[in-house]
Amino acid sequence: MPNDATSDAAARLPIALTINGEPRMLFVAPWTTLLDLLRLELDLTGTKRGCDHGQCGACTVLVDGVRVNSCLTLAVMKDGASVTTIEGLGGSDGALHPIQEAFIEHDAFQCGYCTPGQLCSAIGLMQEGHAHTEAEIREQMSGNICRCGAYPNIVAAIETVLGGQGR
Ligand code: FES
Ligand code: FES
Repeated sequence: MPNDATSDAAARLPIALTINGEPRMLFVAPWTTLLDLLRLELDLTGTKRGCDHGQCGACTVLVDGVRVNSCLTLAVMKDGASVTTIEGLGGSDGALHPIQEAFIEHDAFQCGYCTPGQLCSAIGLMQEGHAHTEAEIREQMSGNICRCGAYPNIVAAIETVLGGQGR
């Protein structure tokens, strides 16, 4: 794999992404993951790197509304897509997303490292519409690991928002 700055620049491909509502034209190397693009090139460091191998969910973002592990996703594969990260969940007026409010209300984090991924994953789960019970929420959030063990409060927060939507 090329690894010097010259070969990197020569290999870059143009892609169009909408990132948190903002259209961007970007030039990325074909081996650049969406996680590296977000964190290292766009300075969107809210998305976290945990395992870098698809095991922990810390890097979860929404691509066209679907939750994905950005560490396993090559940026060039998502040409034309709309990407939402933790930085884009709130309203333009600074208001928090309802799931962010619920996480605060339910104390659903300790160190917070997993939280951006948990929040994006929770939104993806709610949009999928498959989880209706506590057990289903636990199962469908099982790709997001929390080393602090905040799972009961995370599930309670999601249940609150789902309940507000009438499930
Ligand atoms: S950093 Fe992507 S799943 Fe762990
Ligand atoms: S709040 Fe610390 S890892 Fe989840």
